Amino acid sequence: MADINIDQKIVLEKGFLDIELDVSLDLFAEIERLKKEKNAIILAHYYQEPDIQDVADYIGDSLGLAQKAAETEADIIVFAGVHFMAETAKILNPSKKVLLPDLKAGCSLSDSAPPALFKAYRDKYPDHIVVTYINCSAGMKALSDIICTSSNAQKIIESLPADQQIIFAPDRNLGAYINKQTGRNMLLWNGACMVHEIFSAEKITKLKLRHPGAKVIAHPECETAVLALADYIGSTTGLLKYSANDAAKEFIVVTETGILHQMQKNSPDKTFIPAPPNNACACNDCPHMKLNTLEKLYLCMAYETPELTMDENLRLAARKPIDRMLEISKKYGL
Ligand code: 13P
Ligand code: SF4
Repeated sequence: MADINIDQKIVLEKGFLDIELDVSLDLFAEIERLKKEKNAIILAHYYQEPDIQDVADYIGDSLGLAQKAAETEADIIVFAGVHFMAETAKILNPSKKVLLPDLKAGCSLSDSAPPALFKAYRDKYPDHIVVTYINCSAGMKALSDIICTSSNAQKIIESLPADQQIIFAPDRNLGAYINKQTGRNMLLWNGACMVHEIFSAEKITKLKLRHPGAKVIAHPECETAVLALADYIGSTTGLLKYSANDAAKEFIVVTETGILHQMQKNSPDKTFIPAPPNNACACNDCPHMKLNTLEKLYLCMAYETPELTMDENLRLAARKPIDRMLEISKKYGL
């Protein structure tokens, strides 16, 4: 175990290892050392704070992270993201240790679909199959036929026979968007993401007037009225690629603010304006994603806790629909 100086200076947030770190500790160097020492890989989502993105071995959207988790040969996966993402990594890697800097990093969208309630709903529609957005618990995955992410949802739905009836859960906004794109009439579970629901179509319209050359780029978890203003709609990776390749010099970014770090790194000559929420708070920061800090990341690697564990039967049931997603994604080169 790493030699941790407990000569107290910084007090970490309550709720996790109650350890104080020496402020002079070079956390970047320590994390690099621990990665090598423990054969650990850090997978981070784009919504993580910039310091975490900078120490990560791989930064990606939910699909990229699941694919990376499926192929890694590391002994330890440190998942800098939220609970459902670390769960997916564990489902794919039962023999590996999966660590999450803060186990309380949940997801409002995942919480909007309690498995028992969803099962009762699903059982009313025996002719429907269930396609579920990856932002859900392992219990929800176990009740699903195919998992999807915002990168592959449209392709996955299009790959199903036109007369196949579908329940889409838990995100009603992504589901409505896919219904519009594909002409399907999927039944939609009434869930949503607290961050993407807070954007204001009115404020974005005003912002567009002040920045007439700016392109609006939005995540499909946003409401229909907000998506109607977008020049491009896509997953975080899609938004990043679009902003790097498009000729525009200014972008109004309608998703969680963490993605701006990579956008600015990829395109230093462009301006990225975070879309405003519909009130005065900084609600376009995901409070769950932002529970992870560099200090917690270091501690979780040093002490190998908190570790994500899962009942084996649940894991096996949750794995099937994820494998289907990975197969279909591979087939379409996604
Ligand atoms: P993607 O990164 O897959 O687009 O998902 C966004 C998100 O909300 C993750 O929680
Ligand atoms: Fe969940 Fe929304 Fe946060 Fe993503 S941004 S983790 S969907 S609450």
